[in-house]
Amino acid sequence: MPQSSTVNRRIVLNARPRGAPTAEDFRLENAPVPTPAAGDVLLRTLYLSLDPYMRGRISEGPSYAAPVAVGDVMVGGTVSRVEASLHGDFKVGDLVLGYAGWQDYALSDGRGLTLLSPEEPHPSRALGVLGMPGFTAYMGLLDIGQPVSGETVVVAAASGAVGSVVGQIARIKGCTVVGIAGGQKKCRYVIDELGFDFCVDHHGADLPGRLAVACPKGIDVYFESVGGDVFDAVMPLLNVKARVPVCGLIAAYNATELPPGPDRLGLLAGTLLRKRIKMQGFIIFDDYGARFGEFAEAMGEWVKENKVKVSEDIVFGLKNAREAFIGLLQGKNFGKLVIQLAHE
Ligand SMILES: NC(=O)c1ccc[n+]([C@@H]2O[C@H](COP(=O)([O-])OP(=O)(O)OC[C@H]3O[C@@H](n4cnc5c(N)ncnc54)[C@H](OP(=O)(O)O)[C@@H]3O)[C@@H](O)[C@H]2O)c1
Repeated sequence: MPQSSTVNRRIVLNARPRGAPTAEDFRLENAPVPTPAAGDVLLRTLYLSLDPYMRGRISEGPSYAAPVAVGDVMVGGTVSRVEASLHGDFKVGDLVLGYAGWQDYALSDGRGLTLLSPEEPHPSRALGVLGMPGFTAYMGLLDIGQPVSGETVVVAAASGAVGSVVGQIARIKGCTVVGIAGGQKKCRYVIDELGFDFCVDHHGADLPGRLAVACPKGIDVYFESVGGDVFDAVMPLLNVKARVPVCGLIAAYNATELPPGPDRLGLLAGTLLRKRIKMQGFIIFDDYGARFGEFAEAMGEWVKENKVKVSEDIVFGLKNAREAFIGLLQGKNFGKLVIQLAHE
C-alpha cells in the first residue's frame, strides 16, 4: 500500500516477547500524520533499518539503552524525506538520516538528523555499509582487533551487515579471512562475491573440526557477533595474543535462561590467561562516536573503488517489517536488512 498524506501507519510494541518474538508482539495501527510546530521537521520515511539490537529494546532486562514501552512506536534508524519544515536548518525535499522508527511519518526537532545528498543514488547505504553497521565493523576490527597482514581473521555472521564488511576490511589489510555463516548459499556468497578465503557453515555437523581445518595456523582475530556453539568452536583455536572484539551475541538474544552446563567460565578465563588474549566488548556510538568522520571517509573510498562490496537485503512494505525482523533473529536475512517504505 502506498504512503498516504493523511494517515501515519506505524508499528508499535504490542507485548513484550518471552523468547523468540512473534508477529503478535507487534501491532500495525493508523494515526493522523503529525503537524509540525515551530522548530520541527516533518519526516516521511523512505527506508527503515532493522537491526538485532532491537531485540534488546523490546525486553526489560538491563541494557545500554532504555526499552521501548508497550504501546510505543518501535525505534529504528531511518532515511527520510523532509515533507514540511519549521526549522532553519532543513527544507522541504531534503534527504536525512535519522531515527524516526517503524512508521511512515515522524516529527523531529532536528537533533540527531544528518543531511544526505538529496540526489543520493543509494540512500539505503546510509543505514548499512556507510552507516552504523559499517562503522561497527570498521572500529571493532581495526581498533580492537588490530589485524596484521598475514594473520588469520575469523568472522561470525559473515554474510550479514557487520560481518560482510569486517571480512572485506580484513582482506584489504592482507589477512586470511575465514567466515562462519548459516548455510551453503551464504558461505558461497562470502567467498565468491565478497572475496573471503574460506567459509564454514555453522549448521553442519562437527563445526569445531571443520573450523580447525579452515584455520590451520589458528585464529589471531575473532570478530564475535554470535556466541553459543560458534564461540565454543572458536575458543580452542585462538592463538597466543589473539584479539576478540565482542560486537554481539545474537545466539542468546531470544534466550530465556542460561545455556545448559557444564559451566565454561573457568575454561574461558583460563584460556584468556594462558594465551594472553584480549577480549573487549564495545557499543559503537558510545565508544567511537567521535570517529565517525574517519570511518566515513575511508569506507566511502573503499565502496567507490569496489574494494568493499555492498550486501543488502531490501524488503518492500512497512507491513512486512515484523516478519523480516523475526527472520533476522533466525538467520533469514541475506545482508543488511532494510525495509523500503516508499519509492521516493
Ligand atoms: N556492539 C555494537 O555496537 C553493535 C552494532 C551493530 C551490530 N552489533 C551486533 O552485531 C551482530 C551482527 O549484526 P548485523 O546487524 O550485522 O546482523 P546480520 O548479521 O545482518 O543478521 C543477523 C545474523 O545473525 C545470524 N544469527 C541469527 N541468529 C543466530 C543464532 N541463533 N546462531 C548463530 N547465528 C545467528 C544469522 O546469520 P547466519 O545465517 O549466517 O547464522 C543472521 O543473518 C549482532 O550480534 C548485533 O547485535 C553490535
